[in-house]
Amino acid sequence: MPTPSVQPFLWGTATASYQIEGAVSEEGRAPSIWDTFSHTPHKVERSETGDIACDHYHRFAEDIKLMRELGVQAYRFSISWSRILPEGKGKENARGLDFYHRLVDELLAADIIPFATLFHWDLPQALQEQGGFCKRDIAGYFTEYAVLTAERLGDRIEHWIMLNEPSVYACLGHAIGVHAPGLTDLPSFHATTHHLNLAQGSALQALRSVNARWKLGTTLNVHRGVSADGSKASSLMVQRHNDLWNGCFLQPLLAGSYPRDILPELEPYLQSGDLTLIQQPIDFLGINHYSRSYILAKPEALLGYEHAAPPPHLPRTSFDWEIDPDEFRDTLLELHELYQCPPIYITENGAFFKDVLSKEGRVHDKDRIEFLEGYINAMQEAQKRGVDIRGYFVWSLLDNFEWACGYRPTFGLIKVDFETQKRIPKDSYFWYRDLIKQS
Ligand code: GCO
Repeated sequence: MPTPSVQPFLWGTATASYQIEGAVSEEGRAPSIWDTFSHTPHKVERSETGDIACDHYHRFAEDIKLMRELGVQAYRFSISWSRILPEGKGKENARGLDFYHRLVDELLAADIIPFATLFHWDLPQALQEQGGFCKRDIAGYFTEYAVLTAERLGDRIEHWIMLNEPSVYACLGHAIGVHAPGLTDLPSFHATTHHLNLAQGSALQALRSVNARWKLGTTLNVHRGVSADGSKASSLMVQRHNDLWNGCFLQPLLAGSYPRDILPELEPYLQSGDLTLIQQPIDFLGINHYSRSYILAKPEALLGYEHAAPPPHLPRTSFDWEIDPDEFRDTLLELHELYQCPPIYITENGAFFKDVLSKEGRVHDKDRIEFLEGYINAMQEAQKRGVDIRGYFVWSLLDNFEWACGYRPTFGLIKVDFETQKRIPKDSYFWYRDLIKQS
């Protein structure tokens, strides 16, 4: 009897286009909503922008060399929609596509499997001006872009991730307003939630019919809520957070429905057949996880609650995100229990700690190593208890543009000196290299 082929576990790292590429107006790229947002005064700390970021657009070969030395077997990056289709639709920009051709060729030459995310929040500004994800027609535009990109690059990219963290895009961008496009109203938030799902379903269906060999998935970040103050009001809001943040994306994809309590709010945007279109089979589910969410009831807030810092006695990263690997394990176990999950990749996990450059030019980031060690152990416990996890991607390869917080939060295994663009591998880089070597 032939032995069943066992897929090797993949160790990787992750990045996203606007956070690292720079070169925002080169070779035909048009602005995305993050260009507009970061160039609006006071939206980003110190009004920093992704104009140059890690200059990865010009330095990708050096970055891939560092990845090869790190020993990663896979790399998750995202594609900038406005490089491929500057207007969001219509005429393709061959020079923009060429960058990704070069990137993918270089990755394959280094023996690194590319995992491409199609949408990591940088919507072409031209589409935002027509309503962006608040309007239903975005599903068609996203599908057009997804098919074009996969047709051009899909002879060498097998793994395609439709969306990155739609809950963050919907909530922070359309309800809380701290991310692009900076909207703060419930209709935009609910419409965007549904249209992200619709766009994903439509693109999955189309890509599947173009090439059945592609491995198709999406990335959700699953952060379970807990009451920040133990009050009854906050406990009630925990359920609302779990529904809006996790359930509204997991449930339609994996179970064909929206959370019951949220359905009335989404109903104005739903049309018959939508839920069937959204519930597409996927080959893998990407899970991003950082921390549980502390939820505080706040009746005057748009959503009825706000996110709070964890109680002072709990361990935390420099971002004030609680460190609790058990919560990561339990989140994975709960997912496994609640849904018929396809194989899972941990497409992001990592931490911001304030790094110090030593006199010798090293970064001794012991706290990041401990964090990663704890979370990788927790993932392995979940695997032992039956969760089918096929890979783990550290967020992030490089220190980069951390959205509304600019360059202050450093998540990289590699420090970037943004004045000189010098890359300095941190101790965590060497630790991860050894872990990969030994596994
Ligand atoms: C996200 C994104 C990344 C972030 C990372 C740290 O989760 O927000 O996928 O772009 O940089 O998560 O916040």
